[in-house]
Amino acid sequence: MNDGLDTRLARDAGIEVPLICGPMYPCSNPELVAAVSAAGGIGVVQPLALSYVHGRDVREGIREIRDLTDRPIGMNALIEASSRAYRDRMERWVDIALEEGIRFFITSLGKPDRVAERVHAAGGVVYHDVTERKWALKGLDAGADGLIAVNRRAGGHAGPKRAAELLDELRDLDVPVVCAGGIGTEEGFVEALRMGYDGVQMGTRFIATTQCRAGQPYKQAILDADADDIVLTRRVTGIPLAVINTPYVQRTGTEAGPLARWMLRGRRRKKLMRTLYALKSGRQLKRASLDESGTKDYWQAGRSVDGIHAIEDAATIVRRFAQAARNA
Ligand SMILES: Cc1cc2nc3c(=O)[nH]c(=O)nc-3n(C[C@H](O)[C@H](O)[C@H](O)COP(=O)(O)O)c2cc1C
Repeated sequence: MNDGLDTRLARDAGIEVPLICGPMYPCSNPELVAAVSAAGGIGVVQPLALSYVHGRDVREGIREIRDLTDRPIGMNALIEASSRAYRDRMERWVDIALEEGIRFFITSLGKPDRVAERVHAAGGVVYHDVTERKWALKGLDAGADGLIAVNRRAGGHAGPKRAAELLDELRDLDVPVVCAGGIGTEEGFVEALRMGYDGVQMGTRFIATTQCRAGQPYKQAILDADADDIVLTRRVTGIPLAVINTPYVQRTGTEAGPLARWMLRGRRRKKLMRTLYALKSGRQLKRASLDESGTKDYWQAGRSVDGIHAIEDAATIVRRFAQAARNA
């Protein structure tokens, strides 16, 4: 059968619809991950969000998702080694995920070699987040099997390039490439597949769903925003993060303060600053995402907000996108 959905991603992940609900700190709650997988796409667990934001022990949280669906789910490993303790904890989470039957992994930042070794030994695959060809070469060299091509329209840590440009520079590497960023409609999904992408990873579209536990003001802000309302701020994690330009963001600015900029310059200071940022941003983003008052609002979102006009059921989105691809 080839209905336009039978791509290398679909085969690697064992799914029907090559559509990923991307890992989202703090928005990946178990019900959202499960709903996307149950509908034929694949939801990806973000272990820090699962434990720190949604209060689950990682193994228990994975089992809870497994109770909701027996279809494949994925797991995100953020592997930037800001501290040894963090890296050890992440590797433990990867081992737990493998023990619980997860075989699809998305690695972000850093070198995926240690994760790839473990995952390959269990017969799984690793797709690595990249924003440019040079990171793709490093990721593949370290054992990645596929690439998540994060473009400049993405929510979270966006890249500098357009989707078409990025695919052009990755195509000859001859591995599956997934388009991440800026897609919020079925037309965008169909177009990405037509360009030659092996699938699409969406974040923002899945926040505005009934299954996502983000607060109502955050979801409403996504519905109200246009692409021009998305700005990049360095104030949260020290590197550009795509957020909605709320009055709070306008008031506080988008540049890191002078002390933070100085700290980010020296190599050792940079490591410490990254750890401090990780702690601070973890708290800040958790509070903003769950807050029902909508005042201190660091709301991450991509330029895909343009096509998002209603809070929908996540499964309905997956099915509608799949149908559009079959009809194309
Ligand atoms: C709120 C939010 C949090 C995110 N957190 C992560 C994360 O923890 N790890 C990661 O690899 N990507 C993260 N991303 C990126 C998404 O997985 C995905 O690549 C991106 O959202 C695609 O762009 P879109 O939002 O325009 O669909 C995040 C994105 C958003 C919107």
